[in-house]
Amino acid sequence: MADKDGMKLAKDYGLDVPQANQSFYVKGMDHVDWGMKDRLSRIFRPDTGKTVMLAFDHGYMMGATAGLERMDLSIEPLAPYADALMATRGALRSCIQPIHNKPVILRASAGSTVLKDDMSHEVTAVDIDDAVRINASCLAVQVFIGANGECQSLNNLLKTIDSGARLGIPTLGVTAVGKEMARTTRYFMLATRVLAELGSHIVKTYYCDDFEKVVAACPVPIVVAGGKKVTEMEALELTYKSIQAGAAGVDMGRNVFQSDSPVGMIKAINGVVHSGLTPIQAYDLYETEKSAQA
Ligand code: 5RP
Repeated sequence: MADKDGMKLAKDYGLDVPQANQSFYVKGMDHVDWGMKDRLSRIFRPDTGKTVMLAFDHGYMMGATAGLERMDLSIEPLAPYADALMATRGALRSCIQPIHNKPVILRASAGSTVLKDDMSHEVTAVDIDDAVRINASCLAVQVFIGANGECQSLNNLLKTIDSGARLGIPTLGVTAVGKEMARTTRYFMLATRVLAELGSHIVKTYYCDDFEKVVAACPVPIVVAGGKKVTEMEALELTYKSIQAGAAGVDMGRNVFQSDSPVGMIKAINGVVHSGLTPIQAYDLYETEKSAQA
């Protein structure tokens, strides 16, 4: 080999510094492989351990949702402020430029629309090869615990976890609450735990009473869904209470892109999640940003 002779002498072995064993900062993820940790560290900021996911995958079941009529116009300006983008492959390929260098949480289950009374019957929506072409950092599968489609949706989750695991891509299990399900602490405690035990690397769920118990009983990070549009203050309070209870972040859509100031709102949410702002402080930030853009 050309460099065999005349090389600089190797001598910095740090003999007085034992190599440290390192634990990984994402909850419950110490024993996954390097590539999966790399993807998780793109989603959860290493300096705070938390994430602000921007969800705009609504069209897969709701069609053109308010605020998402033109994703090229509404989402592009928000992307720089999100830690991760949760979307369908169709939205990404047609409307979002691949220049933001943000981890993608790829919507990987689908199968019914809001036109159906029972939306719990889904199938896997993306082949793992296509997820790799999109450079997905995570696959999102909706699970309908207690609904008619429970078994099928759990099967979708398990298949996705297995195919993702082969390539080091984590899976986000989403607890979808069927129309007939009560949003009780007991329900979310059960649903989140089931999704984690089956191998989800992240669980998305809704905030509820005694949320700290839901978080404690779930051995992997929980991110909280925003839900229908409420006032900015209410959404910031939801974010604050979720983080205080131990959530690792939020996965929010409508409360960002349907806000009067989407950029102001995502900055305010960032303030709560990553900088420990109170809802009042974050609301001030939102108002300041809103005025600056007016
Ligand atoms: C649906 C989802 C959506 O991405 C999520 O619910 C959208 O966010 P929001 O509710 O905040 O508009 O996972 O299962």
